[in-house]
Amino acid sequence: MYEPRIIGFMCNWCCYAGADLAGVSRFRYPPNIRIIRVMCSGRIDPDIILDTFLYGADGVFIGGCHLGDCHYVEGNYYAEKKIEIARRLLKEAGVEPERLRLEWVSASEGERFAATISEFTGKIKEMGRLEFEKEEMEAVRMVAADYRLRILATKERELLEEGNKYGEVFTQHEMNRLLDDMVRDEYEAKRILLKLKKPMSVKEISSELNWKPNVVFRHILDLKRHERIELHEIRDNTPTYVAKVVEGVE
Ligand code: FES
Repeated sequence: MYEPRIIGFMCNWCCYAGADLAGVSRFRYPPNIRIIRVMCSGRIDPDIILDTFLYGADGVFIGGCHLGDCHYVEGNYYAEKKIEIARRLLKEAGVEPERLRLEWVSASEGERFAATISEFTGKIKEMGRLEFEKEEMEAVRMVAADYRLRILATKERELLEEGNKYGEVFTQHEMNRLLDDMVRDEYEAKRILLKLKKPMSVKEISSELNWKPNVVFRHILDLKRHERIELHEIRDNTPTYVAKVVEGVE
């Protein structure tokens, strides 16, 4: 009988207290979830979520205070953005984004907490054990750790409401497009970087990834300009490249 492994990150002030209340009130919910108490839902960055999946979770639950009730004022707004980014990354790696759930549960909602966890556990059970391509998941994990993505996650509200330092205010549509482009671009670069743990030519990479050579070549130029890769050797008149450092990957 398959029993999913679910990790729940819950904020100390609301959701964790709601879980506590569910316990003392004897509201029943499946025992599949392992709870980790954090000070605020906004503390959970996308790379933590992806690590949790990489290390074997079938589902991840983030629980925070209702919007407007966060003890650190805006933490749960940041959490929303971070979860949205993590879902985009999961999708890129071929993982169902529904395996990641964000809910607001107050300290007085013990019954709702139990019902939410029961429903989420059922959903994960239906989806079955998480399966993924290790290299794809490692690539999105590396993207999640990228500082530009982190900045975007925390600056989105400001860019939408007040604009950047030149006074340009962004629309939600523009922000979504910016995020999609950044995720896609970074994901492609990290996939190539992971391939270059061993020396390869553009042609070899594009045939392994089944991508057009011009897409691979564009990233190779970029990675070389940023000194992430170097020329390894010229083999039969074809240059091969190798990564200098592939951070975050053994
Ligand atoms: Fe609960 Fe921030 S303190 S979400």
